[in-house]
Amino acid sequence: MAGRVSLTRSTSLASPTKMAALASSPFIFPSRTTPSFSFASSSPTSLSSLKCLTSFSPISHLFFNQAQRRTQVRLSNGAYSTVFTPKSFASNPDQLKSAREDIRQLLKTKFCHPILIRLGWHDAGTYNKSIEEWPQRGGANGSLRFEVELKHAANAGLVNALKLLQPIKDKYSGLTYADLFQLAAATAVEEAGGPKLPMKYGRLDVSGPDQCPEEGRLPDAGPPSPADHLRQVFYRMGLNDKEIVALSGAHTLGRSRPERSGWGKPETKYTKDGPGEPGGQSWTVQWLRFDNSYFKDIKERKDEELLVLPTDAVLFEDPSFKVYAEKYAEDQEAFFKDYAEAHAKLGNLGAKFDPPEGIVIDDGSPKPQPEKFEAAKYSTGKRELSDTMKQKIRSEYEAFGGSPDKPLQSNYFLNIIIIIGVLALLTSLLGN
Ligand code: HEM
Repeated sequence: MAGRVSLTRSTSLASPTKMAALASSPFIFPSRTTPSFSFASSSPTSLSSLKCLTSFSPISHLFFNQAQRRTQVRLSNGAYSTVFTPKSFASNPDQLKSAREDIRQLLKTKFCHPILIRLGWHDAGTYNKSIEEWPQRGGANGSLRFEVELKHAANAGLVNALKLLQPIKDKYSGLTYADLFQLAAATAVEEAGGPKLPMKYGRLDVSGPDQCPEEGRLPDAGPPSPADHLRQVFYRMGLNDKEIVALSGAHTLGRSRPERSGWGKPETKYTKDGPGEPGGQSWTVQWLRFDNSYFKDIKERKDEELLVLPTDAVLFEDPSFKVYAEKYAEDQEAFFKDYAEAHAKLGNLGAKFDPPEGIVIDDGSPKPQPEKFEAAKYSTGKRELSDTMKQKIRSEYEAFGGSPDKPLQSNYFLNIIIIIGVLALLTSLLGN
């Protein structure tokens, strides 16, 4: 292809899978698994133009604060030359932050919180803890972007989530799909009013559809024995009963659509007007607000308009699940705490991080300021008198001849008595 410089890896710092992953949009690039890779360049092919890429915005932004790596560059005349190029992590921290802002804007206009959460969960939920090799073990590796996996029955409708995110992916070349899916899910939970999730980033992407997991790793909503089925699927991922119940609480958001999963009503009074695409059956009344109403509603089962899948119902039937479901129905704080931990764990399943410790991005919200001193807070301050008290004072005032418009007059009769008394006292003293 014209305008390309092909680079051959010369040190162990370079990761072919990572570089291939960066360039492997299912829509634009063919999959690649070979250790050589190339950078697209719009300028004529030359070493200087390649060097320019690293100092020229926005590409320079990509490599900000990252280590150097020696790379053999094959020039267009066939000769090789060594250049220093910065080592990039799987995703760029600055781009992760910018992408999060874009996701927030997307949520404001599309109200797509639920489907983004489902996308993140279905990418991660294929993990099999008994398989050690990556990416065969499945998990959060961006494989869900490939058509072969999107076509799995459990993923019906998720292509719509991918379409919503693709423009963000196209905007940020320093962001993997695996990270984008988890970033979108976490941002959606937080923006819907859920807890802050302790996420980390830096996940590598699988590079081709041949690396997608086989169908059948995600749970079924109506299996013959829902409790056994949930345990079989979630234990395979290394998750426990508490985590199964807490994560199921994500159904506090969103709807089920018969034309996708086969579950739920085509519409209810809560979904017929959207927001977003109308229709489907929700688990809760406020299905865009993340709270503990999922547990309350399943427990009460008062409203036929609300959905309860067999795998939801079993959370209040199985003795071990029930302990947590009851607790979360009573105590939203306990639910938020356990959900946040379980969600972050789910998002890390099977993922391969670069750097290995992952990248934490700050939440972007202003740091809490020390509370301003307000003297009034520490004194009782001026208090308004009650109406009864005001009335009482007024009647006492009026008894002495005063009124709201007239100051209290001197009581002449009383004054004369006092003067007579004083005179009588003086007379008796002088008489003695
Ligand atoms: C416990 C086993 C689970 C089963 C059997 C299950 C099943 C389902 C089904 C059948 C739907 C309806 C999909 C549709 O028709 O479009 C759905 C939607 C959804 N699921 Fe689950 N799910 C499970 C666990 C989870 C977990 C662990 C999460 C997240 C942590 C989650 C998040 C969601 C969300 C947010 C939606 C709404 C999607 C939308 O409105 O587009 N689910 N789930």
